[in-house]
Amino acid sequence: MRILLLGNGGREHALAWKIAQSIKCDKLFIAPGNAGTQEVGENIAIGVNEFDRLKDFVVDQQVNMVVVGPEDPLVNGIYDNFKEDPRTTHIPIIGPSKAGAVLEGSKDFAKAFMQRYNIPTAAYATFDSTTIQEGMRFLETLKAPYVLKADGLAAGKGVLILDTLEEAKRELKEMLGGMFGNASAKVVIEEFLSGIECSVFVLTDGEHYQILPEAKDYKRIGEGNTGLNTGGMGSVSPVPFATNEWVKKVENRIIRPTVEGLKAEHIDYKGFIFFGLIDVDGEPMVIEYNCRMGDPETESVMLRLKSDIVELFESVVNGDLDKQTVEFDDRAAVCVMLVSGGYPEAYTKGYPIAGLNTIDGSVVFHSGTTVKDGSIVTNGGRVIAVSSYGKTKEEALAKCFAEASKIEFKDKYFRRDIGFDL
Ligand code: AMP
Ligand code: GLY
Repeated sequence: MRILLLGNGGREHALAWKIAQSIKCDKLFIAPGNAGTQEVGENIAIGVNEFDRLKDFVVDQQVNMVVVGPEDPLVNGIYDNFKEDPRTTHIPIIGPSKAGAVLEGSKDFAKAFMQRYNIPTAAYATFDSTTIQEGMRFLETLKAPYVLKADGLAAGKGVLILDTLEEAKRELKEMLGGMFGNASAKVVIEEFLSGIECSVFVLTDGEHYQILPEAKDYKRIGEGNTGLNTGGMGSVSPVPFATNEWVKKVENRIIRPTVEGLKAEHIDYKGFIFFGLIDVDGEPMVIEYNCRMGDPETESVMLRLKSDIVELFESVVNGDLDKQTVEFDDRAAVCVMLVSGGYPEAYTKGYPIAGLNTIDGSVVFHSGTTVKDGSIVTNGGRVIAVSSYGKTKEEALAKCFAEASKIEFKDKYFRRDIGFDL
């Protein structure tokens, strides 16, 4: 099978690494990819939202399957765009239709969807510029801290958590006034939930689903979960509090009603669903849905997925995912992200990266790298993910640190406490 994977981050390198191991994969292209993905496939210089160029490529190169890494092209309707074009209508896309991607693309839609199917989530209300006064009054009925969410995609920055009512009111006004452009034309105000988070992933064919290994990610830049939010500084799988009993609750109360709800609403969904969960006194609740895998969760989850991922994708396409079983590796897998100094604020790109070929026994996934004049250089805030197995997460983490210290680039930084709170 000839497969095209879309995206250019660590998640995509991890997916590419896994896809390339499949006996079903004859050729893997990655558009646009990074300096790491070219080690497991062929990079193609086409952007993930250039649908016409992607379709030309797919037809020209007789691609049999397209796997979508990031949310952007999904929310922009790549699934529908391919379906509606007679040249590509028969080419399966792993990723939901535009209507399905709205689970991630609109927080207001996601909250209303959860409410329709009694899926546990924080109480909420949604406001726009015509109902700003009602929004202010709603804030007054809540207790601190206050959670404000831009309805639309805001590059991971659209959630504000404010300590005082005064700040919350000021930020609500700013958000509705265009702080995140059109993404904050509507704002969801939510009850604050207190607990520990966990990312649960499923693959669905629209009718059946298979649960993949869960993971916990570490979003803050500083150790002890302090400082600014980032795209993610590391991840751990498995998550100790996600016991079989807890995952059963997640399946019964959250996963199954979600898949059934999508089906009941005739929403085409053949792809990943990422449940961003929080454990509130032993009870799982949904913080958010994403229509794709997580980054950097994928960089540990792929290590623990023993099954052939392309065989799973084939069943997603054929609608017989119930016939598959998903095998997990019993070992722990941990990912530590090496980032550019200054990230998530201003940082410099283009520094040479040394030591990549000294890595032994860990897996290196490139996140923000490119090739310049024949050498690999930094090209993003998150640069390299080092992923390792261990009998325990402590052992895996120690292995990550040992290998991470062999990779050198100017102003490299990483957190040494990934998994500390588990
Ligand atoms: P989201 O983009 O919806 O995942 O939100 C970003 C982060 O904000 C989450 O990972 C949580 O840490 C936090 N968060 C979002 N909603 C809530 C909530 N209702 N209560 C507490 N924390 C929240
Ligand atoms: N790690 C969280 C995300 O991918 O959104």
